[in-house]
Amino acid sequence: MQQLEEWDDFVATRYRQGKSEEEFRNYEADANPGVTQFYRENHAKQTYDFVLRKKAEYCGLTRGKKSVWEMAEYLNTLVDESDPDTDLTQIEHLLQTAEAIRKDGHPRWFILAGFMHDLGKVLCLYGEPQWAVVGDTFPVGCAYSDQIVFPEFFAANPDCKLAQFQTKYGVYQPNCGLDNVHLSFGHDEYIYQVTKRYLPEEALCMLRYHSFYPAHKHGAYRHLMNDRDEQMFHWVRKFNPYDLYSKGRERPNLQEILPFYEDLIAEYFPAQIDW
Ligand SMILES: [Fe+2]
Repeated sequence: MQQLEEWDDFVATRYRQGKSEEEFRNYEADANPGVTQFYRENHAKQTYDFVLRKKAEYCGLTRGKKSVWEMAEYLNTLVDESDPDTDLTQIEHLLQTAEAIRKDGHPRWFILAGFMHDLGKVLCLYGEPQWAVVGDTFPVGCAYSDQIVFPEFFAANPDCKLAQFQTKYGVYQPNCGLDNVHLSFGHDEYIYQVTKRYLPEEALCMLRYHSFYPAHKHGAYRHLMNDRDEQMFHWVRKFNPYDLYSKGRERPNLQEILPFYEDLIAEYFPAQIDW
């Protein structure tokens, strides 16, 4: 994948509004070679051990303190090289999502979740490869659902050869709750860890599971979810259209809306937080 956004574009195409289930099953036709190669690597390398290692590395939030806005500006240095004239900056993408949520009259924490949902992509700037930052997420340590895109690529994952990871429940208990399940590592988990002390549970679920398409779009892994997860996924699903379809809307007028977002961030976060 030449650029990070190819994955987002692919997902948006896959779930294009009005697409039939049959069209969806043809998603491979929508994937360019870069995207296919990306999934090949993602599925082969996101092992149970890899996920635990990355969580140990990042979830302690030892990368220093920054304000939310400083981190958004840092993410902005991730430049899209393919088409500098027409593409929006990372901050503009975040604001487009947030503004679409605001226009629909949703609560302030929902708007804030929209603004922050992809901030975890700073993992790329920390030197993580794309396959460890973006991509549909899925549980590790148990059998892979056939509802995950390109399931055939899991054959190259070393966990496939470990019998204890290939049963329906694997290392987990029935309906143990997603909080006890390790998902493939990426920007969702990282931003959840950064924000978990500050945002309401509904917002946290949106952030943590927004790329968990096998579950929130296809209903997979309900045998690992508990009642609370089921309730919270209502919000994850509510958020998803804003993630998928906010691109291509008008360019946000930064000067005009900046005060609103400064107030919103200050309402939930202290001046600086741990990253
Ligand atoms: Fe995302």
